[in-house]
Amino acid sequence: MNPLDLSKKIILITGGVGAIGQVIVRMLLKHGAAVAVNDVIPEAEAAAVLPASERARYFRADAAHAEAVAAMFDAVESALGLPNVVCCHAGMVGAHPVTDYPLAEYDKLMEVNVRAAFVVAQEAARRWIPRGIAGHLIFTTSWVQDVPWPEITPYTMSKSAMKAMMRGFARELASKGIRANAIAPGIVGVGMAKRQWDTDPSYRARASKAIPLGYLQTPESVADAFVFLCSDMANYMTGTTLLVDGGCSLYPMD
Ligand SMILES: NC(=O)c1ccc[n+]([C@@H]2O[C@H](COP(=O)([O-])OP(=O)(O)OC[C@H]3O[C@@H](n4cnc5c(N)ncnc54)[C@H](O)[C@@H]3O)[C@@H](O)[C@H]2O)c1
Repeated sequence: MNPLDLSKKIILITGGVGAIGQVIVRMLLKHGAAVAVNDVIPEAEAAAVLPASERARYFRADAAHAEAVAAMFDAVESALGLPNVVCCHAGMVGAHPVTDYPLAEYDKLMEVNVRAAFVVAQEAARRWIPRGIAGHLIFTTSWVQDVPWPEITPYTMSKSAMKAMMRGFARELASKGIRANAIAPGIVGVGMAKRQWDTDPSYRARASKAIPLGYLQTPESVADAFVFLCSDMANYMTGTTLLVDGGCSLYPMD
């Protein structure tokens, strides 16, 4: 028996068309899961990057919008069944000194990172509890949930909030058999960190010193952590953060 077999899992992942999300989706499919991919990207663009598979379906919706999320869960249930693992993975980052941080961008970031995760986790729990389903919520946080990092303070705040959210769902819903955990990546060489690395010299200077293992993280290493956490091997885990960060959270380095 393969302990990482996911063939009984129906996994919903928000932000699944993003740079890391795409890799996670492929890895979950490879392990046998059915995967409902959510994002705000138009269908044609999503179709161009997502694997063509009967077991993978795309559902375009704004994860911060409660009615859209409820409609998305209805559509996922009809197409694949009610997800038993829900990954709150969508996110955004913005880099500005705290003194210049535009409040409109602050609000958007909190909406995408914090509100969307709450809305999606809430909708999942509302469907699981009456049917006695022992579902699993997985939140993508970041090593910066516990480490202040210059110029992305609202992002670090949002990831701390997601960690607190995960622990809150885990504590409150444990008696229903519902579990919640987080995966905290480090500095991944794709997606938002790569964009910052390419465009912001001060970020690049700091980031290049901040990884004790000495090299940028691969998205596959994040996807491997998802496979483990989605599998039955992680059944006794709840309320915890799986740090997969090359030691970044050991920062500051001297
Ligand atoms: N890249 C890194 O180094 C890194 C490190 C730690 C954590 N993370 C986290 O990993 C996750 C993915 O990051 P990424 O680097 O792949 O970024 P990305 O920008 O490539 O992907 C984010 C995805 O979220 C989607 N999205 C945005 N708003 C949405 C909404 N309202 N509803 C649904 N989807 C929405 C975007 O369209 C995008 O496809 C984020 O939560 C991020 O905070 C990334």
